[in-house]
Amino acid sequence: MINIAIDGPSGAGKSTLAKMLAKKLGYIYVDTGALYRSIGLYMFDSGINPKDKDAVIEALSNIKIELRFENGTQKVYLNGTDVKDRIRLPEMSMYASLTSAIPEVRAFLLDIQKDMAKKNNVIMDGRDIGTVILPDAQVKIFLVASSETRAKRRYKELAEKGIETSYEEVLSDIIKRDENDSTRAVAPAVAAPDAVLLDSSDMNADEALDAALKIIEDKIR
Ligand code: DC
Repeated sequence: MINIAIDGPSGAGKSTLAKMLAKKLGYIYVDTGALYRSIGLYMFDSGINPKDKDAVIEALSNIKIELRFENGTQKVYLNGTDVKDRIRLPEMSMYASLTSAIPEVRAFLLDIQKDMAKKNNVIMDGRDIGTVILPDAQVKIFLVASSETRAKRRYKELAEKGIETSYEEVLSDIIKRDENDSTRAVAPAVAAPDAVLLDSSDMNADEALDAALKIIEDKIR
């Protein structure tokens, strides 16, 4: 199987790029952030403080997460319910970021990710795909962009979905999450030594796609 890992900070354009690549190459796109967001959502719905490590770990035994692909689109089922839309609520970003720092949460989601990549050609995006989940991926891309570019993109994305927020709020959320995600003790969002760095600050989606396709061709042709 061919495994392509795309890691990088929030809002760098990983999901847009990964979706385009998956379509172009005929691979399955696996959005691992959705798994962490589902855990966050469970804590939110259960009134569990995402910083209360013991309570989060205890709650894991009540959670069943499944990934299904329907018409080529990933759907996440949390205890049997499709949570694809609710996990995109802005509050869920911070819930996911906080709970994802807990090693037990990461261990809980390990097999589901590895299994996917074992059985399918995948483009998988996340934070630790190239370093922890798929250390043997044939291609690893670490996608970055300036915080301002990322905040602008995410703000536009949320506005298009009718989710109300301000640019300043989105920017401060991104900076806070970067800090959480890159400094945590387990699986911090850092580039694997063999990852290729791609800076999309001054690229549109098509340019980023072309750049990524070149990187992929170099590695697997
Ligand atoms: O990619 P995203 O914004 O949907 O991810 C939500 C949070 O989940 C993010 O702040 C960090 C965490 N995450 C992670 O720790 N590891 C991953 N592979 C994917 C996401």
